[in-house]
Amino acid sequence: MATDDDMASAPVERQLLPRTATVDPDGHLRVGDIDLLDLAAEFGTPLFVYDEFHLRQACRAAVEAWGDGVAYAAKAFLCRAMARLAHEEGMHLDVASGGELHVALSAGVPAQKLILHGNNKSEEELGTALACGVGRIVVDSFDEIARLGRLLDAPTGRADRPRVLVRVTPGIEAHTHEFIRTGGEDTKFGFSVASGAASQAVAALELLPGVELVGVHAHIGSQVFDVSSFEQAGEVLGRFFAPLGLPELVVGGGLGVPYINGESAPTQAEWAAATRAACARTGVDPAARISAEPGRSIVATAGLTLYTVGTIKKLPGIRTYVSVDGGMSDNPRPVLYGSGYEVFLPRAVAAPRPDAVRLVGKHCESGDLIVPNAFLPEGLRVGDVVANPVTGAYGYAMASNYNKVPRPAVVFVADGSARVVVRRESLEDLLRLDS
Ligand SMILES: Cc1ncc(COP(=O)(O)O)c(C=O)c1O
Repeated sequence: MATDDDMASAPVERQLLPRTATVDPDGHLRVGDIDLLDLAAEFGTPLFVYDEFHLRQACRAAVEAWGDGVAYAAKAFLCRAMARLAHEEGMHLDVASGGELHVALSAGVPAQKLILHGNNKSEEELGTALACGVGRIVVDSFDEIARLGRLLDAPTGRADRPRVLVRVTPGIEAHTHEFIRTGGEDTKFGFSVASGAASQAVAALELLPGVELVGVHAHIGSQVFDVSSFEQAGEVLGRFFAPLGLPELVVGGGLGVPYINGESAPTQAEWAAATRAACARTGVDPAARISAEPGRSIVATAGLTLYTVGTIKKLPGIRTYVSVDGGMSDNPRPVLYGSGYEVFLPRAVAAPRPDAVRLVGKHCESGDLIVPNAFLPEGLRVGDVVANPVTGAYGYAMASNYNKVPRPAVVFVADGSARVVVRRESLEDLLRLDS
């Protein structure tokens, strides 16, 4: 039987790589029919590489599983190219701030296809959403209802009434990290079903003449592997939603993805089927639009990060530190959540990885870890390009300029060509906001 160490030191599993990944006769990994080493040479490192075919397939799977209305949660990774791609593939977009709204609109996504989220939307954000005619606003607090009421007292310039959903917390503790759990009672998001706040919010919105209440929304957390969490949420939500007779129920995002060897996750179709079955058991009208907002599961595995090894420090009897040219500024997830990742050598992707090392970044923090207990093939040298798979979600999206490290470039690859969709920040960019 394979032990955990066997699994960790085996080559990185196929399921962690983008769909078009292939190994060439020299043992190099190609994505979108381009050698990753050529991408590193042409665009420099750190570099985010996304497989466009994979992104498109993931969007199509979501549309197939959930039908019209399914939205890509833009917070997972947003730039104009990504917004356009999701729109072209038939997805709506969930935007969680005025900034995300701005990027989506500037990409040409019609406002009608946008759903505005946020637990503390400002008057300006709500005003912009009303003026441009976003498709849905997900209402999160009584203060927001009051804010909407005030804004709608003034002319908005639109003929139709804005459609709103009420965000509720079903009281489900998803089996995931505390910081990405959002459906329990102790949360800043939404209105509690159990306390009656959700019913009060529904009543308040029904009385607000300027809006059309169309549905209920919930999001129980992210990186959820266990279909039973979605089933439980579906049942609690279904019981709340069915008697309201509203046409739309949105169950948020949260579908998990494997990050390390040995993990496995349900598919979009399994998630949708479990949710629909749970809703049906609680009497939800079969004609209601049951929909979702996947983020991570659309982009995570489509993306990977290339780094260059700059320093290899062997501490006898302790461990070997391998430092690369990025770190917590391009991927804060290991620091924030203790998230696990794999690392591999694109020049020898199928090689066993017997050497235990600690993969770290270049930032002035001991906590700047990328993979604390990493395994790499023998013979690693300074100048090698290493790759972290499954960095397509909440990596670039959460990137910062800590230590004034410029943010990496992002390239989309397809059919043998690569296009820069976000250029690398320059040193000049680091000064552009200074007065
Ligand atoms: C309201 C809402 N919808 C969708 C998502 C996307 O979740 P995921 O990326 O796990 O699919 C999130 C993530 O935080 C969220 O808060």
